[in-house]
Amino acid sequence: MQITLNTPLDMHLHLRDNEMLKTVAPLSAQTFSAAIIMPNLVPPITTKEEVKAYKNRIKEAIGDENFDPLMTLFFKDDYSYEFLKEAKNEITAIKLYPAGITTNSEGGVSSIDSESLKNTLEAMSELNIPLCIHGESNGFVMDREKEFVPVYEDLATKFPNLKIIMEHITTKDSVEALDRHPNLYATITLHHLLVTLDDVAGGMLQPHLFCKPIAKRYEDREALLKIALEAHPKVMFGSDSAPHPQHAKEACGCAAGVFTAPIALQVLAELFEKHDKLDNLQKFVSDTAQKIYDFKPAEKIVVLEKKPFTVPAIYDTVVPMYAGEEISWSIASIS
Ligand code: DOR
Ligand code: ZN
Repeated sequence: MQITLNTPLDMHLHLRDNEMLKTVAPLSAQTFSAAIIMPNLVPPITTKEEVKAYKNRIKEAIGDENFDPLMTLFFKDDYSYEFLKEAKNEITAIKLYPAGITTNSEGGVSSIDSESLKNTLEAMSELNIPLCIHGESNGFVMDREKEFVPVYEDLATKFPNLKIIMEHITTKDSVEALDRHPNLYATITLHHLLVTLDDVAGGMLQPHLFCKPIAKRYEDREALLKIALEAHPKVMFGSDSAPHPQHAKEACGCAAGVFTAPIALQVLAELFEKHDKLDNLQKFVSDTAQKIYDFKPAEKIVVLEKKPFTVPAIYDTVVPMYAGEEISWSIASIS
């Protein structure tokens, strides 16, 4: 059995910098045509010059691969209209992190209310720059995303012309919010379609499945699976593949992030086949994102086949999801 994917897109990806960038960027660049690149470097990407320089480093790391890094700025509430107008041709979106909520987000926004973000969000609406949000409060870990839903709804209502992407949603509450506002969209990761908190911490602690937002309950995973498998028109694949070196994951004080880039398409094929929905995978991994972001990426044809593949135990210093395990789909060809 085979499936051909036309121009797969990863709408949420961490590529890091330096040696890590050299390890991970080629893995995404092989199988994806383009990806939205997260700006949470240390320090974060906050100027047009930094965006351009980072994009060049990514291009250098991927060599000849046909892959478009779609760049983002790290949201600051003092970005002016003039600043954004200047930066617009170098970026695809802006990523907002609540301060301190996840890896390298210390410089994020400490108070997310429509009044204090007004100037920047109005400028983004006018310039048609999408806003990607890591939507978590600083409450109890299982309730953080649920508690953030009113913030999404307030922003969606107050800025009706702003495209707001609820990144890596993990709960039934977020799924329900999606259809209440025409300008709310979402990405879903591979790992949140597969695991619940039971897989992370129900038995022996699994550091390589630890991420933010943390995987939730079975009913949450069901709600995510339903909209992904049916290729809901406001939902895109965004891996949130977030590599950390093995020593930072297998540590007392485990870094958050699941590294899925090299297995994402194969495991998505396995999952969609299991639910008899392979026909919807093209929309979930490409077509819907092109419509939402209104862009036309360079074509890349990836043929996947149902043939066992043993996931490498490690890629340089990074342990992938399903390390050493056999998955049932492989990449057959890429052109
Ligand atoms: O688990 C995560 N890792 N969640 C994020 O939001 C950030 C990411 C990272 O950069 O490591
Ligand atoms: Zn992320």
